[in-house]
Amino acid sequence: MCGIVGYIGDQNATEVILNGLHRLEYRGYDSAGIAVLENGSIALRRDVGKLNRLAELLKNSPIAGNVGIGHTRWATHGVPSERNAHPHLGNTGKVVVVHNGIVENFIALKAELLSEGAVFRSDTDTETIVLLVEKFLAEGMDLISAACATLKLLQGAHGVVLFSIDEPDKIITARMGNAGGVVIGIGEGETFIASDIPAILEHTRKMVFLETHQMAVVTKKGVDVMDLDGNPVDYTVSSVAWDPVSAEKGEYRHFMQKEIHEQVRSLTDTLAGRADFERGDIYLQELNLTREKAEAIGKIFITACGTAAHAGMVGKYLIEHLAKIPVEVEIASEFRYRDPIIAENSVVLAISQSGETADTLAAMTLGKEQGATLWSIVNAIGSQAMRISDGSISMQTGPEIGVASTKAFTAPLVDLYMLAIVLADAKGLLSSETKQTLITDLAKIPGLVGECLLREKDVEEVSKKIMNAENALYLGRGIQMPIAYEGALKLKEISYIHAEGYPAGEMKHGPIALLDDDLPVVAICPQDRWHDKMISQIEQAKARGAYVIAVAEDGDEKVALLADDVLWVPHTSWLLMPVLTVIPLQILAYQIAALRGLDVDQPRNLAKSVTVE
Ligand code: F6R
Repeated sequence: MCGIVGYIGDQNATEVILNGLHRLEYRGYDSAGIAVLENGSIALRRDVGKLNRLAELLKNSPIAGNVGIGHTRWATHGVPSERNAHPHLGNTGKVVVVHNGIVENFIALKAELLSEGAVFRSDTDTETIVLLVEKFLAEGMDLISAACATLKLLQGAHGVVLFSIDEPDKIITARMGNAGGVVIGIGEGETFIASDIPAILEHTRKMVFLETHQMAVVTKKGVDVMDLDGNPVDYTVSSVAWDPVSAEKGEYRHFMQKEIHEQVRSLTDTLAGRADFERGDIYLQELNLTREKAEAIGKIFITACGTAAHAGMVGKYLIEHLAKIPVEVEIASEFRYRDPIIAENSVVLAISQSGETADTLAAMTLGKEQGATLWSIVNAIGSQAMRISDGSISMQTGPEIGVASTKAFTAPLVDLYMLAIVLADAKGLLSSETKQTLITDLAKIPGLVGECLLREKDVEEVSKKIMNAENALYLGRGIQMPIAYEGALKLKEISYIHAEGYPAGEMKHGPIALLDDDLPVVAICPQDRWHDKMISQIEQAKARGAYVIAVAEDGDEKVALLADDVLWVPHTSWLLMPVLTVIPLQILAYQIAALRGLDVDQPRNLAKSVTVE
């Protein structure tokens, strides 16, 4: 969960930045570093591990200056090490950068830079950014133009901060998509930059939030915001209240909205240190899985509650399709009270955001008693579910505060995808081409989620149309069936509209009787192997006067002709499509609840962690 802090003013930048990084410590990181402009050159200190190691290094080998940038890193490309820690210097030693996000086209950009003679000193994708800026500077551009030219070449979502010794009066920062925010704090004769408000809140409450595809030139005197062509853009200076809760909420109205938007970042962090896109491999170290163990697994029982169980249902499709291991998914409160036949070569895999859900823990205990191996996918580090597991995958989403789970739904989808690849690979079921394709698809996921989030306004139009509905029906098939369940759960729990998720093929066995022109039907219909079946469901619903909102893949003309409204998502493989199709449904539920003026973050009768039966 990378963090960024930058400073330009009259104070010692090192101290301001180190303090700011300390305030982001709770997010987790594996290395940290600071670069300051010291006597006309860039002084750099970086170290792996905790911030106090960097602080110790700075004590023994101090650096000081009035301009600087710092970073806490959660490894994505390249292992946690001093050389991979940010900030990254270019080959000339004149430009330095810190970065959140994944440069999705890093391999192509790196190959081009290498062919032009650039030297890479780290394994990170971030280094391409600083080397590209230097390349454009060498061609005669000034720093702003070089930054613009570079940013336009990057695919994916990014937060970037950089400066150059040749233009020491400015720091340049940019936000593309949702790889964390970029906030600029305006002080008196000094300006601050951060990925998160708490890092700079002690200095100022006057904040400017960058929108996606905006760049800012930050000086002691303030900020100029522009688009990526360098054209000035209007911006507002917001006043942030001095309390930690609103500070954490930042630019968003509710935590749920913030957490929906955090998914680019949480998915980037989910991949960090696990998916090696260059070598085309996945590492799930905490799972303690050996090849022998993978080969010996006879069956996997996935057990969980609510949203987490819906993630598990998607996992069944992924694991059975790729790893050919039979998977049963069962709601934990049911699993614990039946007599499941759990052989010793079974795995019981629990999924839980809190890691403290009573039913899920009881289901795990049952699995343990019967000799199964216990695995968990958990968000809350150190929780009971994680402690009692033989192997685990931590979700890396950071704290989820909104009661309705959003980012803790998409993270386990990606974890389960990686698990399915690891199991399939260990069993020798993947050709190297298939494995490479699966991993390449994965690299694009945070960016594609970002694209879905950019379409928030389109969802708003639909939200307004159905905000007064009393019922809603969500339909999906195959791997999208759990997404229908999840979309309906999101709507009912925060907007109090009765909503049902249904396997679309079951319509004719009962629910079709509900259809009339008062019932919105949400049909999840990407171009997968169930597409034609879904099309005929939409036709049937339309024939009975229902108002159909489809979630469909860009360019799907059949759906465009049939549905009343379409929430479009970009293309990805069918295995990863649930990560995208759920995004407009989360937004739809959020917006409807917000339009109805409800307490989105703390819906009635619900608790974030259900520690009772
Ligand atoms: C719904 C929601 C709940 C939880 C369920 C399990 O938005 O949040 O359905 O998913 O209570 O909680 P965890 O994941 O903490 O075990």
